Amino acid sequence: MIPQRMIDEVRQSSDIVDIVSDYVRLNPSGRHFKALSPFTQEKTPSFIVSPDKQIYKCFSSGKGGNVFTFIMEMEKVTFPEAVEMLAKRAGVDTSKYQRQKAKQEDKQESSQHETLRWAARMFHQTLESDAGRAAYAYLVGKRGLEAGTIRKFGLGFAPEAWEFLLDTARRDNIPVEQLTALGLVTRHRERNSLYDTFRNRIIFPILTVGGQVAGFGGRTLSNDPQTPKYINSPESAIFEKSKLLYGMHAAKNDIRKQETAILVEGYMDVIAMHQAGFTNTVASSGTALTRYQAKILKRYTSRVLFLYDGDNAGKKSMLAGIDILLSEGLTPWVVLLPGGDDPDSFIRNYGKEAFLEELESKKSSFQDFQLRCYRDAGLMENPDTASKAISAMTKSIALIADHVQKELYLEELSKKLDLSRQTLRKVMASSNDDRASRYESRNLNRQEAAQEPQAGQQPLSVSERTFLEALLESTSYGNEVLDFAASHETMFTLEHPAARAIFTHLVERFRAMDDKEGHIDITSEISSISMEQARNIAFDILIRLPVSQTVRPSTAELEQHARRCLTHFLVAVKNIMLEPLQKQKLEIIAQLQAAPSAHEQERLSKELHEHNQQLRAMEQEVGESIRGILGK
Ligand code: UTP
Ligand code: MN
Repeated sequence: MIPQRMIDEVRQSSDIVDIVSDYVRLNPSGRHFKALSPFTQEKTPSFIVSPDKQIYKCFSSGKGGNVFTFIMEMEKVTFPEAVEMLAKRAGVDTSKYQRQKAKQEDKQESSQHETLRWAARMFHQTLESDAGRAAYAYLVGKRGLEAGTIRKFGLGFAPEAWEFLLDTARRDNIPVEQLTALGLVTRHRERNSLYDTFRNRIIFPILTVGGQVAGFGGRTLSNDPQTPKYINSPESAIFEKSKLLYGMHAAKNDIRKQETAILVEGYMDVIAMHQAGFTNTVASSGTALTRYQAKILKRYTSRVLFLYDGDNAGKKSMLAGIDILLSEGLTPWVVLLPGGDDPDSFIRNYGKEAFLEELESKKSSFQDFQLRCYRDAGLMENPDTASKAISAMTKSIALIADHVQKELYLEELSKKLDLSRQTLRKVMASSNDDRASRYESRNLNRQEAAQEPQAGQQPLSVSERTFLEALLESTSYGNEVLDFAASHETMFTLEHPAARAIFTHLVERFRAMDDKEGHIDITSEISSISMEQARNIAFDILIRLPVSQTVRPSTAELEQHARRCLTHFLVAVKNIMLEPLQKQKLEIIAQLQAAPSAHEQERLSKELHEHNQQLRAMEQEVGESIRGILGK
């Protein structure tokens, strides 16, 4: 358990807008900020962040929460890890809380994330130690890296030995099963023995956007052609290569500032680019660019500059990547480097200035790049292949969602090819018809449908909602309403399980409070409700409430608000208590109207009469208690 005071301090030192904008591009919208949800594949923004309340709510997935739940979602970490990350980010000194923590840590198995962090540290220390002297010399001498760059990217070295990491783990009490689970250690099938996965390799720690170590890439130092140049951590829930961009943690702020991301192929390219001052560079790490990676980029910018290797493989990857970027609403640009070069080798061979010159003079639109590739490959010389190439280009244009842009690119292409726009549009329409794209759009629809709120979740009734609204809102003006709720708990018959969960949670929390006049931090109370649906509903209510935690009204205003709140609450309470009786009344009336015999009619009218009396008595009783409370 982390001390509550530490959690509070971290939350108070973290700003939700600041933290969320590490992951998504926020646009101001009234008192809120709006963005494309980082949780779903949506096309229109439905993700709302409230700076006043320090919470967020995603209307397409239903998820809501505060800074902690956000980091837990985005970084796939546990609550304590999220607190730890945010503490570090906000510069909160957690050592003063540490004494309690250290004891538990011994017993507690360290988590996978901690083990990854530990391994990164071991590799890095080794690189800077005697054992890493040759590797260090390689990085500095052969690859031109500076000491600061090696440190910035946390580069490491795994020595030639079979059991380097294994031995170090035994020394540091790291469970070996964790190393195997993370793929840092491999089991030899026949001998049933364990050995280090990364041997004689430069280690590139791969971080999440938030700076957690997710896995490693390792480049061999051996010249043996049998040895693969790179190996990477195996895929797992923590390490999904297709969902990571190498260097994103270091590049995100500059991508946002410069409104452009530079996309390269390799680890070394990212590092060389950053060292040369192009700090907005990330890599897709050798895999073809995925939609998921494009979505990550889209959170920070809408322009991406491709700077892949100048060889045929690089060209092919860029051609494929262009369509992925376009369909995610990004505008790709391309710089084609000379044949055998990648950005790293270009900078090393010709220097920073020549490289900048190259970037500025060779930058071309994605369309010019496509045309150039097809021309270079000789496709445009023969009508049959030319028609296929043109169809591919119109298909890219068709992916652009913005109508004006689409039209402009079409016009460009028409000029470049000397073909009428009408003809191109026909090509576009027919290629749109083909099975591949129909399949794709069907798939997309299915994805979108999957995001709709799950069926089977009944909505809250109006009075339950009003009741919860008033209850939540009231906590900003004191504990009077909670106090009432706690002492009249049995009077409430909440039907919706989520409404019940929210209500009981708050009441229990209030009962547990030592100082009944103390302030309840409603946002964090809600975050700790265990039923997810209840949590989401509570955040949904909270984000719509006209309360501000930052702008404090005057005392008179405060009292007025508190009073209005209490009234709302009591009206809702009244409805909730009377509703079951009112429902029954309607049922009796319906039965009465359909009664088959006079005898039955008589029985039912008698029942109705009794019921009415009961209802009136109840109304009176509730009314009186309410007047009592209000008159206090
Ligand atoms: P490259 O082969 O272009 O290597 O692979 P590089 O980055 O230029 O490395 P140096 O300059 O020779 O040292 C590009 C990227 O593809 C991934 C790595 O992320 C690499 O940085 N890759 C490549 C692998 O994951 N596995 C491989 O076997 C090869
Ligand atoms: Mn290279």
